[in-house]
Amino acid sequence: MQRWLITQIGAEHKLERQDVPAPSPGPGEVLVRMHAWSLNYRDLMILRGEYGAPKHMPLVPLSDGAGEVIVCGAGVTTLKPGSRVMTTLFQGWLEGPFHAGVYGTDIGFSLPGVLSEYVCLPGQGVADIPDGLSFQAAATLPVAALTAYNAVKDLPPGATMVTLGTGGVSLFAMQIAKSLGNRVIVTSSSDDKLARAKQLGADEGINYVTHPEWDHEVLRLTSGRGADWIVENGGAKTFQRSLAALAPTGRISLLGRLTGITNGVNLQPLVYKAASVRGIFAGNRQELLEAATVIERAGIEPVIDSTHNFANAPQAWNALAKGPFGKVVITA
Ligand SMILES: NC(=O)c1ccc[n+]([C@@H]2O[C@H](COP(=O)([O-])OP(=O)(O)OC[C@H]3O[C@@H](n4cnc5c(N)ncnc54)[C@H](OP(=O)(O)O)[C@@H]3O)[C@@H](O)[C@H]2O)c1
Repeated sequence: MQRWLITQIGAEHKLERQDVPAPSPGPGEVLVRMHAWSLNYRDLMILRGEYGAPKHMPLVPLSDGAGEVIVCGAGVTTLKPGSRVMTTLFQGWLEGPFHAGVYGTDIGFSLPGVLSEYVCLPGQGVADIPDGLSFQAAATLPVAALTAYNAVKDLPPGATMVTLGTGGVSLFAMQIAKSLGNRVIVTSSSDDKLARAKQLGADEGINYVTHPEWDHEVLRLTSGRGADWIVENGGAKTFQRSLAALAPTGRISLLGRLTGITNGVNLQPLVYKAASVRGIFAGNRQELLEAATVIERAGIEPVIDSTHNFANAPQAWNALAKGPFGKVVITA
């Protein structure tokens, strides 16, 4: 079989294809023939050396993919050959609240990833794909849809939500929030992307390049009140404006760092608006199953920016670096 390896991170990063024997599943593991994969912003950061040093180099990249179980190791009872499964990011977080034991159990960085024609994972490290979703759709869910689901699932009914940018997490957040009946304002660097977001259901769009004071636009669009909920993908350079754009008692779901993670923030609006901020760290396997069910039942089609062949996998990183509209996918 073939797999891809990151053999060097940083400015001179290298991705290389390698022929290796297919692995055999040990007790409790399944062998999965992979059909599709997707990239997340973190995969770009890992390759560029912006995510820290992986414990094991060379590293098989990517956490997200979907495929078909070929062989079940001893003791696997919940899956069988032919089961359609998607990967889970944190192999050590099956359910319940986040806890420190989750650290270091992520695949694609702390543990080897899945950009390989065949992959062995613990049976509990994969999740069933709902019947209505294709392998390609399922491959986009493990991080982006899960994170978006956890960022918006507690939205109060009839809320106005802002989501920053039109990447993978942001468009899932928009689609899920719309399916729950909320009003959604999307920001983007591009009018063309905003027009496409509106075709997909966004109520309003703000170009944050032509309107760098996009928080003022949010206030204008909400008659001065502000947004009830903000999906904060930006981090350091957007957080202050998110606070300014927030309505009294509003909530920021803080998950991103597209503009960095450290900045001097004036916290006063947080107090004076009696607002709250909740950090979102992807989620657990049970929540991924919930997110997939919500997406299937609502008829949400994951937005695919571009699809690349396994043989040309490095092109997928180039597509991500350009700033995708939705998810960048690799197919077998
Ligand atoms: N906490 C977690 O568990 C978790 C999970 C997944 C992702 N994340 C984080 O969430 C962020 C988004 O991840 P992703 O995988 O969805 O990324 P992605 O698919 O690569 O999306 C990137 C998009 O972000 C937008 N963007 C770039 N700079 C921006 C800015 N200054 N303000 C607003 N939007 C900006 C761009 O859209 P436009 O061109 O439309 O502006 C770009 O297309 C990243 O920081 C990632 O690390 C966190």
